[in-house]
Amino acid sequence: MDQPEAIPFSRPFRAPGTLERLATVLDSDHAHGDGPFTRAASDRLISTIGGGEVLLTTSGTHALEMASRLIDLGPGDEVVLPSFTFSSAATAIATTGATPLFVDIDPATGNVDPDLVAEAVSPRTRAISVMHYGGMPVDMAAIGAIAAEAGGLPVIEDNAHGLGVQSPWGVLGRIGTFGVQSFHDTKNVHSGEGGALIINDERHRARAEIMREKGTDRSQFLRGAVDKYSWVDWGSSYLPSELNAAVLDAQLAVFDEIQASRHAVWARYAAELADWAGEVGASLMSPPGGVHAAHLFYVLLPTWRDQADLIASLARQRIVATFHYVPLDSSRAGRRFGRVLRPLARTEDFAHRIVRLPLWAGMTTGQVDRVIDAVRAWRPEEAEE
Ligand SMILES: Cc1ncc(COP(=O)(O)O)c(C=O)c1O
Repeated sequence: MDQPEAIPFSRPFRAPGTLERLATVLDSDHAHGDGPFTRAASDRLISTIGGGEVLLTTSGTHALEMASRLIDLGPGDEVVLPSFTFSSAATAIATTGATPLFVDIDPATGNVDPDLVAEAVSPRTRAISVMHYGGMPVDMAAIGAIAAEAGGLPVIEDNAHGLGVQSPWGVLGRIGTFGVQSFHDTKNVHSGEGGALIINDERHRARAEIMREKGTDRSQFLRGAVDKYSWVDWGSSYLPSELNAAVLDAQLAVFDEIQASRHAVWARYAAELADWAGEVGASLMSPPGGVHAAHLFYVLLPTWRDQADLIASLARQRIVATFHYVPLDSSRAGRRFGRVLRPLARTEDFAHRIVRLPLWAGMTTGQVDRVIDAVRAWRPEEAEE
């Protein structure tokens, strides 16, 4: 019998006009960074997030690293962040010699619990780093109040999942001191690899520009503001090439279509899996206020062993579903470079019960039907005596 077509977990979006833009770059004399496509993509990004100051970077990880360097983190400093997040959030801190202090989540969203952030802040705390899981907004009013109470701590908003999401506290990525976007090809909008640093505090602007250009004042030189450029500060090569910027420009040009397509898939999962979830005792992703980025859709299964069981059952039907985030505090590097105040029971439980379903822009009705049917057909194994 013929095998059914494999359904991947995600598929990078192919935007119209990509190849034409790449040809324009290759035919020009400017393929390195900060050319016309970097400007065009930055402008589109600014309009997607409703204003602000952005610097395109080579990755979201590098944008996080720039934020750490801009606030001069170093040995002896601590940054409070969730354990349930991507490793880059922690490695960007550890690379400066500072210590990530991991705290637990609110299991309703997978986002960091602001009460636990408040408890973890101490005289050693130099920043708070949050991540909007699946584009579901962290309570930024609560985080802002904690940061203010501690004397004005910088807040880093890792918004890799939530491009363009309007929250009750503003557009995600524009609320903290810094916002970070990723344009890795698993993200809603991508350039293969890529990212952006959103600078919401004017005081960091000039230095960020220097850091991104290998620690030189080359950007000022290109604007004619200085007559030579030289090494003036710490930095690295954080600016993407025009090739990456051209791909990103094509994607951002159709951002609304990408989002509409992803939201349609998300809405079908939410509507058509609700009865099944009730029957098996699972819970579906349910964003407070309905606010999310349609970046991912997850179910939380009743027990830890159900996670591997559902993933394996879908794999047998050639459907790729997956877990998320080995908690950072339990990872090898997390134990070496970070610390916790106590075991993070909610994070551990969430990470062992979550299964994310395939979701990408352009997923066909037939593909979504197959995923829904396969999930609905799954039942937890009877508990052994
Ligand atoms: C929440 C989060 N933060 C940061 C990153 C790092 O971004 P990049 O892969 O662009 O370095 C990712 C993903 O890949 C992510 O999911």
